[in-house]
Amino acid sequence: MYSIIIFTHVLSAILSIGPFFVLFPVLNRMKLQNSEALDSHLEVFQAAIRIVKHAGHVLVVSGILLMWRGNWPWTTSWVIMTIVVMVGSIVFLARAFKPNIRLYQNEMIDLDTLVLKLRRSVWMYIFLLLIMLWFMVAKPILW
Ligand code: HEM
Repeated sequence: MYSIIIFTHVLSAILSIGPFFVLFPVLNRMKLQNSEALDSHLEVFQAAIRIVKHAGHVLVVSGILLMWRGNWPWTTSWVIMTIVVMVGSIVFLARAFKPNIRLYQNEMIDLDTLVLKLRRSVWMYIFLLLIMLWFMVAKPILW
């Protein structure tokens, strides 16, 4: 049972990071200023964020199950650090993508600014996920 939960946990970690790498070529195409294609590019962007959001929920639930079934104490430093970074990245995810797409749709920022902001956000989010991945895999004892 424990190995099924770890498998689910790792699979959801893959699905939390993977979709973001698809977004780089999409961002490159968005710069071409083809307004008809732009809508479908924005849809790909939002679909990727939706997958990441669902995978994130599975990641948290399977993580809680691992803590419970594996008798890991909640005071474990690498778990606490992962949760801290995770709360930060949820707040970040909520602010980084949809609000900027909406600003563009309401013509408050131009396309170049939107692409720049989205690219920066994608890198930032990947960076945060890699920090969490490192805490989970290396399990450093920080205190
Ligand atoms: C609420 C948040 C989380 C909790 C409570 C949690 C809990 C755990 C626990 C207890 C393990 C150890 C399983 C074992 O070795 O017996 C584990 C492993 C793992 N977690 Fe998480 N996790 C969380 C979030 C995350 C996140 C955000 C990621 C990825 C970005 C992640 C990726 C992994 C991976 C790849 C492993 C396997 C590492 C290994 O065993 O070498 N987890 N998790």
